[in-house]
Order: sequence, then C-alpha cells, then structure tokens
Amino acid sequence: MYWYRVFSRSALLGVLCFAKRLLMEYLQAGPPRLPISNQGQSRDNTTSGRYAAIDINNVGRWNGFNLGNILNQYGPLLTGAMIQREPMPTSPPQPITSETSLRQRFTLYLDSRIRRGLRVGFQHLGMQNSLGNRTIVSFGEGNLAQTVENFIPDTAYFATDLPESTRPNRAPGDLKPSYKWSSDLRNGPTQRDRKEFKQALSQVNWYMKQHRARYGFILTDRELVAIRRLDNYGNLELSDSIPWIARGSVSQPQLTVLLALWYLGMLSSDNQWWSL
Ligand SMILES: *[C@@H]1O[C@H](CO)[C@@H](O)[C@H](O)[C@H]1NC(C)=O
Ligand SMILES: *[C@@H]1O[C@H](CO)[C@@H](O)[C@H](O)[C@H]1NC(C)=O
Repeated sequence: MYWYRVFSRSALLGVLCFAKRLLMEYLQAGPPRLPISNQGQSRDNTTSGRYAAIDINNVGRWNGFNLGNILNQYGPLLTGAMIQREPMPTSPPQPITSETSLRQRFTLYLDSRIRRGLRVGFQHLGMQNSLGNRTIVSFGEGNLAQTVENFIPDTAYFATDLPESTRPNRAPGDLKPSYKWSSDLRNGPTQRDRKEFKQALSQVNWYMKQHRARYGFILTDRELVAIRRLDNYGNLELSDSIPWIARGSVSQPQLTVLLALWYLGMLSSDNQWWSL
C-alpha cells in the first residue's frame, strides 16, 4: 500500500504544481501538419455580386504584426497570466477534403484555445485594473456577432457584454482550404492567380467594411495572414504569412497561429482602434 500513497501524493503535487502554465506557453503550441486529400474538390473562389478582386487597390505590408512587437506590448501579460495546461491532440490528423473538414480541424486545434487564451488574458488585466479603454471580447463562429445583410463570416471577435444581434464583428475571419487560397498567389505566374489572391481579400474586406472593422484574417490549413484595413478604398496591409505548424516555447518564442489570433483579439478589444 505504501507505494500507492507515495504515488498519490506526488500525483497530487503534480496537479498542484504542473497543471497550470504561463499563457505564453499555452499560445506557443501549434497544430500538426494537415494532409490534403485530393478528391477532385472544387477550387472555385467565393464570389458575390457585392465584392470582387477589383475592389482591392493596394496591398502593403503590416510591419507591426510581428513577434517582437507582440512581446513588447503584451510580454508582462503573457508571462504573468496562468492557464490550465491543455496539450494539442496527438492522434494522426485526418486529411482536409473540403471547407467543412478545415472548419472541423480549426475547432479541434485552435478555436477554444483562442477563446480560453483571451478569457484568461482579460481576467488577468481585470485583476490588475489595467483593462484601460478595452471591451472584453470573445471569439467564435461568425453568427455569434451581428449579421449584416445575410453575410456571415466564418469567425468573429465580439464584445461579450452585448447581445448577438447588435454586437459588431470586430475582426472577421475567413477559413479557406489552402488549395483555394495561399499568400503565394500574390506573385503567382498567371493573372488568374493574382486575381484569386485579391478575390479572397475582397471577401474579408467586404465583411470588415460591413462591421466597420479595421482588422481581419484569412486562415488556411497551411498559414495565417492577418489583415489591416487602412481605409474604405481597398487599401490593405497584410502580415507576413504565419505557418499553421509554427510552434515555440517560452524561451524560444515563435509567432504561432494561436499567438497571432490571440493578439488580433487584443487589438479588436481596443475601443479606440478596432473600428475604422
Ligand atoms: C473565381 O473562380 C471562378 C470560377 O472558377 C472564375 O470564373 C473567376 O475568374 C475566379 N475569380 C477570380 C477573381 O479569379
Ligand atoms: C474609449 O474609446 C472610445 C471610442 O474611441 C471613446 O469614445 C472614449 O472616450 C474612450 N474612453 C476613454 C476613457 O478614453
């Protein structure tokens, strides 16, 4: 029986000491590489009578969207707040065959982690009385925010203290399989590539305009690109491409998809800046 008591005591200690992690470590996790299965699926872009590639005028570089800047602004929060440990699922990932499978992988690996990371971050800021001029935001599927003219973005950041029907989507996101969109299309060999590149941007730009949001993103099964809208005339800035599989540690941090989507949440919580 003795070994059992020793074991249970150390297990208890383990729970007390090791179950919690720094928020920074939590956001350094990255999902596994996802295989893509070619089922002859449609590669058509999303089109609409309301937006098109031609809406996008100029695409610049969002210089401030980088790891150094995030750590400068949020280092103390990221290494001050504690969060329950939650390892990434380790089962071999199922392949991407459609938009639906991408959404399901997004739910499995990222969605609730972004939400939990934001909740813990805002709790910590609240306890320190340093929320400043922010609204606490959460994250989830697009129709958790207001629907404008039946357009529903895939994801939303939204104020938690307003009803769904009135809260704007403070940073709409779009999920696209990588066989439909990639940031490389920008310098693609054909004009069609370059047009497809802008077509997807025009879709998110349209959502952002509907909600008067400054920020947005496109996430594929390969990369995340954060978007900043500069005006109402199709001038955008894009972050560098952040690999889906990026992961790091507290001592060797990387700009991961989780950290980037958490940071977009923090940007969207800023009452003075989220809207344009
Ligand atoms: C989107 O896909 C459709 C169908 O393949 C194509 O006709 C159209 O040119 C594409 N749009 C852009 C902007 O490339
Ligand atoms: C917070 O931001 C809003 C939106 O810009 C502004 O109207 C308000 O005056 C700001 N409040 C403070 C205390 O700065």
